[in-house]
Amino acid sequence: MIKKMMLDYTNKVCLAPMVRSGELPMRLMADKYGCDLLWTPELIDKKLITTTRIENKQLNTIDFVAANNNHQNSKKPPTEAIIFRKHPQESGKLILQLGSSDPELAVEASSKVIKDVDGIDLNCGCPKSFSTHSGMGAELLKTPELLCSILRNLVEKIGKPNNKPISCKIRMLANFDKTYKLVEQIVTTGISNLTIHCRTPNMRNRQNPFWNYLPKLIPLIEKNGVSVILNGNFQSKSDLIAIQKALNNDKISIMMAESAEANPSVFSEVPKSQDQLITEIFELGKKYHLYSGTKFLIMNMIPGKSKYYQIFSQCKNFESMEQEIIKMNENKTIEQWKNDKIYKILNKNCQKSNSFNEEEFVKEMEKRSVEVEKFFGAWKEDAMLLDLNDSPTKRTMEIPKHKLKNNRNGNVNKRQKIEAV
Ligand SMILES: Cc1cc2nc3c(=O)[nH]c(=O)nc-3n(C[C@H](O)[C@H](O)[C@H](O)COP(=O)(O)O)c2cc1C
Repeated sequence: MIKKMMLDYTNKVCLAPMVRSGELPMRLMADKYGCDLLWTPELIDKKLITTTRIENKQLNTIDFVAANNNHQNSKKPPTEAIIFRKHPQESGKLILQLGSSDPELAVEASSKVIKDVDGIDLNCGCPKSFSTHSGMGAELLKTPELLCSILRNLVEKIGKPNNKPISCKIRMLANFDKTYKLVEQIVTTGISNLTIHCRTPNMRNRQNPFWNYLPKLIPLIEKNGVSVILNGNFQSKSDLIAIQKALNNDKISIMMAESAEANPSVFSEVPKSQDQLITEIFELGKKYHLYSGTKFLIMNMIPGKSKYYQIFSQCKNFESMEQEIIKMNENKTIEQWKNDKIYKILNKNCQKSNSFNEEEFVKEMEKRSVEVEKFFGAWKEDAMLLDLNDSPTKRTMEIPKHKLKNNRNGNVNKRQKIEAV
């Protein structure tokens, strides 16, 4: 039996927590196009504790504002930064993701925001050094006692008194028994939902997610009254239907990150083309966000091969960007421009970009559904619970011309390659 809390995590399509990308304009867009639950980007406990809550009457938002850490000797006047901005449209579906490695700080930070959000999620999956160096994110997977004590503290001191759910987001481990044991500990802390990013901390988003252990893990989680959200290269609502069917479980939910970052309308049956979304997110950015943050969102939504990638990357402010958006919309019917990929749907598949029209998109998703069914249809316990070789694939990249070293003859070696993980 899944526990009845104010927020129901079952059978949902969710927007993943994404630093920089998951800010208010992105969440409002995802919500508009049918996203069921919205995660904020990870917010660090120590930072959140320093914030002041402000009701912004002009924008009808709640702003959590903190002083910017200007250098002590800086002559610039102190500035303030919005750490978290919530819009009433998000009410009933907004989960704040917390970065913490301390049970007390986690509670202190959560108590500041709990009245304005619908749940608190602990980040136990970020493998980046800014998270792991202080014991947060994926580092918590190595210290399950600490991880669980943070969750228990949040459940007792934040969740129960406010009748709001506590959840957590983890990654897989490369060994089945270790993953099973970890999950077993986590699901008995009193949390309501567990999100599994189906990659290990070593794996990168360009690698296919790893589903082998799921048929054993999901029953364990649900048996303890906890719901499950799966994450890792999901691309559309039809992926939810496919995975529910393949696992014969209509309670499963999915969470999307990079596919939604590229096209925030992926939550609807058939997504919109990039030009429409860029126009919309620009308006939201102008109203609720900084120019730099808005430009970042928009650049993630422009296919690299579009002529507009260069054009938008040169924009310096909202005004110049607005001019380019007007031209982009006018050019849609002009022969020379209308084949540009910006007028199609941008789809991300393990970081590979594709551009589709509506019909092609639907066909592509149908192909994926068949693959999901095939994978779980062929699932056999003895073959599937083996250790995973999760060494990250090496990516070789051509060195940009200006960085190529001259060889002894003074000629550049065009085949010099660098390895990047
Ligand atoms: C720009 C970006 C920022 C991210 N920030 C966070 C974060 O704040 N917290 C977190 O748990 N995961 C974060 N992630 C990981 C995603 O939530 C997700 O687990 C991962 O991208 C895999 O999902 P996908 O294959 O759908 O992209 C981030 C990913 C991206 C691309």
